Parts: sequence; C-alpha cells; structure tokens
Amino acid sequence: MTFEARIAQPQTVTRWPAVVTMDGPAGSGKSTIGARVAHQLGYLFFDSGILYRALTWLALRQGIGLSDGATLVAVAERMDVVVRPATQADGRPYTVEVDGEDITWDLRRPEVDVNVSEVSKHAGVRAALIPQQRRIAAEGGLVMVGRDIGTVVLPDAPLKIYLDAALEVRARRRLAEQRARGRPATYRAILDDMRRRDQIDGGREVAPMKPAADAILIDTTTMTIDQVVEYVLGLIEQGRRRHMQD
Ligand code: DC
Repeated sequence: MTFEARIAQPQTVTRWPAVVTMDGPAGSGKSTIGARVAHQLGYLFFDSGILYRALTWLALRQGIGLSDGATLVAVAERMDVVVRPATQADGRPYTVEVDGEDITWDLRRPEVDVNVSEVSKHAGVRAALIPQQRRIAAEGGLVMVGRDIGTVVLPDAPLKIYLDAALEVRARRRLAEQRARGRPATYRAILDDMRRRDQIDGGREVAPMKPAADAILIDTTTMTIDQVVEYVLGLIEQGRRRHMQD
C-alpha cells in the first residue's frame, strides 16, 4: 500500500487533533465531508474503503470465492495498492492503482458494491489491512474515513465523528451521484444494496460498524454538506481552544 500524499508530506503533525476519524454507513456523507474537512484543515484525507474495494475487485477478477478467507488474506497481504493525486480530470478525487492498473472507477462498479461487505467480514482480511491503515495515520495530520476507524483501527484518535442518515436519504444521495456519472442506476436497487450492506457491516462479528463510545454522532438526514462541514470545523475549533487551556 502506497499513499503518495503521505510520502509527499511526511512531517509529524503536532496540532490538535492529530487525527480525525469519521465512520458511518454508505451515503452518510463521510467521503465528501471528510475530504472537505481535511482540505480546510490542511490535512490529508484517506478513505479506508478503497482497500476493501480493491481487494474485492481483485477477488472477483481472479475468481476467488468470497468465502475463501485464506486466499483473500493472501491477496490482501500482497496486493500493491497505490493512492495518488488524480491523474485525470474526469471528476475523480484521487487515482487508485492496483498492481499498476488504474482501477479508480472500477472500485465503484455495482459488482464491487454488492460483494465488498462479504469480503470485509473475514477477520483475517481485516487483520491484514489494519497495519496498512495505521502506517498511513502514524504521522497524523489526517482525516480517515471508514466503518471501524474510531473503534478498531485508531482507537486512541483524539476526535471521532460518526455520521449517519436515514436509509432512504442515503440511497437518494447515491442515486444522484451515480446518475451524475452517467451510470444506469435505480433507486430500488441502490436502496436494497445499502440495506443489505448495513446489515452485514453492522452485524459482523469482527469490527462491526458502530460509533466508538467517545464518538460524536451527527445525523445528516436533513443537513446539507456545507452545514455538516461547518459543524465539524466548529467542533475542531472548540476542541482546540479547550486543548490550549489544558
Ligand atoms: O465506504 P465504502 O462504501 O467505500 O466501503 C465499502 C465497504 O468496505 C463497506 O461496505 C464495508 C467495508 N469497509 C470496512 O469494512 N471497514 C472500513 N474501515 C471501510 C470499509
């Protein structure tokens, strides 16, 4: 796993909060809001879902059974994922390459959406991907989004956010996103897939999706992106003031 932005900006960040974790279900706004907050702070942004999606894409391409945990772990350990600044101006926030191939948009294909939760269930797969995520976060100055970042990957993070929204609203957001990209998509199919993924991600034995005990919960159902970003930046401002007093 190579995260090029981290290589370009290796200095240790001492400002509070060194790291912000942002967890929550699909369509809760994590990626958009996480990236915006990171930009405002001058922090890096890392979406941990990329790793699970890259592994799922590889497994589908190589015909690996999604219940074959041992083989999935072996692939997770040796896959070479590179995340670099966008190499094309086609609306991508960054470029993802796996074993030298640009798979940025492949990661968002419906077959990856449908199968990624099954792949992510395996304890061994999660264990293989944790050190890669921790390495990226080690120097701080980062917003990391996912499902278990605040609970498992970075349990000592100083600021943890958990975003949620009503299922129907999340499905509408994803539909608008897919249509904007010219992808054929129906509300029903997206809704059903999200509901199923919520159940698997939230019900799995290892690292289920849930807020950390010390996470701040934000329900974004009736909020705009700008409002959520403002709110999170306000939390950071307050935290910084408190931190300077201590
Ligand atoms: O955020 P996303 O939709 O790109 O994530 C895709 C899947 O990856 C999600 O359904 C479950 C898995 N995932 C995970 O299990 N843990 C994470 N930290 C991030 C993603």
